[in-house]
Amino acid sequence: MAKKRVVLAYSGGLDTSVAVRWMTDNLGVEVIAVAIDVGQGVDEEALSRRASSAGAVDVVVVDARAEFASEFISSAVRANALYEGKYPLVSAMSRPVIARHLVEQARLHSATAVAHGATGKGNDQVRFEVSVMALAPDLEIIAPVRDWTLTREDSISYAHEHGIEIQATRENPYSIDANLWGRAIECGVLEDPWQSPPEDVFELTRPRATGEREITIGFEEGIPVSLDGRSMPLEQLIEDIGSIVGSYGFGRVDMVENRRVGIKSREVYECPGSLALILAHADLESLTLERDLAHEKARMEPRWAELVYDGLWYSPLREAYDAFIASTQRYVTGEVRLRCESGGRCYVVGRRSPYSLYDYNLATYEAADSFNHKDAEGFVRIWGLGIATWSRRQGLGTSFGKPGGKDPR
Ligand code: ARG
Repeated sequence: MAKKRVVLAYSGGLDTSVAVRWMTDNLGVEVIAVAIDVGQGVDEEALSRRASSAGAVDVVVVDARAEFASEFISSAVRANALYEGKYPLVSAMSRPVIARHLVEQARLHSATAVAHGATGKGNDQVRFEVSVMALAPDLEIIAPVRDWTLTREDSISYAHEHGIEIQATRENPYSIDANLWGRAIECGVLEDPWQSPPEDVFELTRPRATGEREITIGFEEGIPVSLDGRSMPLEQLIEDIGSIVGSYGFGRVDMVENRRVGIKSREVYECPGSLALILAHADLESLTLERDLAHEKARMEPRWAELVYDGLWYSPLREAYDAFIASTQRYVTGEVRLRCESGGRCYVVGRRSPYSLYDYNLATYEAADSFNHKDAEGFVRIWGLGIATWSRRQGLGTSFGKPGGKDPR
C-alpha cells in the first residue's frame, strides 16, 4: 500500500527540518516540504538541500510575495489593522496565505494531511489549523513540534544523529518570524518584560540615516501605489518605504500582548513599512471619509485586527467587514507626505486628494469664509434645547448659583 503523504510548511529552520525526519520515522509517512516565500528571504538551494537531507521526498518553493501583498496586506492597510492598538499583525497576516498554499500542494500531491512547525503555546498553530479547517475540512492536521517533547538541545542532537543539515548554530536565543509586513522577535532576555530589548535584536530599524527626509506615498482606493511619484507593486513599495523609514529607526514596537491561547507575552516587533503605510493611509482617510463613515469604520477596525489575529481570516465576518471596508475606500485616493527624523520619528506633514472633503472656504477664518454664521446660531440653539430643558427641570438650572445650590465644580 502506498504510504500516506503529508505536506509540511517548511521554513528551513531546525524545528521543521527535524519534523521532516521525525514524521517520516515515527508516523511512517512521506513528507513533502513546502516553503512559502512571503518575504522572509528564502535561499532556495540551501533550503532544498536541507529538506532532502532530512528525508523529504519532494521540496517545493513557492514565491507568494505578490499575492501576499495584493490579496492580504492590501486589506490590512485598508483596515488600518493594529492588534491591541499597536501590532500590525505581521505573523497573523502570513498564516492564511501559507495555509492556502499548503492545501493547494496537498491536492497536487494527493496528500491526506498537512503539517506545521508551530508550538502548542502560540497563536500560529491556531491560525494554521483554523485556516486549513476553513479551506479543506477533510485534511488531517499534524503538529509534530507540539507532539514531541524535544528541547532545543535535543533537536540539535537529533539533527546531528540523523545527518540532517542544519545551519551552523551560533546560538541565537531569539525566535524570529519575518515577512514583508515586518519582523517578530521573541524569547531570550525579552521574556522579562522589564528588560530593554538589546540593540542586536533589530535588523530593519537600525538607525543609519542622519538629518531628515520627506517621502510622498500615493494611494488609490486605499491601496498604496507609489513612492515619490513612482508607481510600483505593493510588495516593492513596502520594502522601499520600510528601508527608508527604518533607516531613521522608525517602526519598533515593544508590547505585552494577549495571545489567543490565554498567555500574555512580551513581544518586540520591527515594522517600519507597515506602520508608515498605516499611518499615511489613516491620515488620507481623515481627509476623504465623511464623518459618520469614518467613525463607524474606526469602531470596526480593532475587531478586524482581532479576528485576523485569532486565526479567522477565512471567516464570513472578516469577509463582511472587508466588503464594508471596500465600500469606504472608493475615494481614499491621493497622497500623503511623511517626514522622517533621526531618533525614530516619522510623521505626517501633508495630505491631498482629488476627492478631499476639506473645503477651504468653509474651514477658513480668512475673508474667503463662506460658512453661514447665522445658521450656526439656530443650530446650536436646537442642539442644546434638550439639555436646557433638562437643566431647568432636573439639573443645574434650578440650583446652580443660588444660595445652598449645587455647584458643578
Ligand atoms: N506574537 C506574534 C503573533 O502571534 C508573533 C508570533 C511570532 N512567531 C514566532 N515564531 N516568533 O502574531
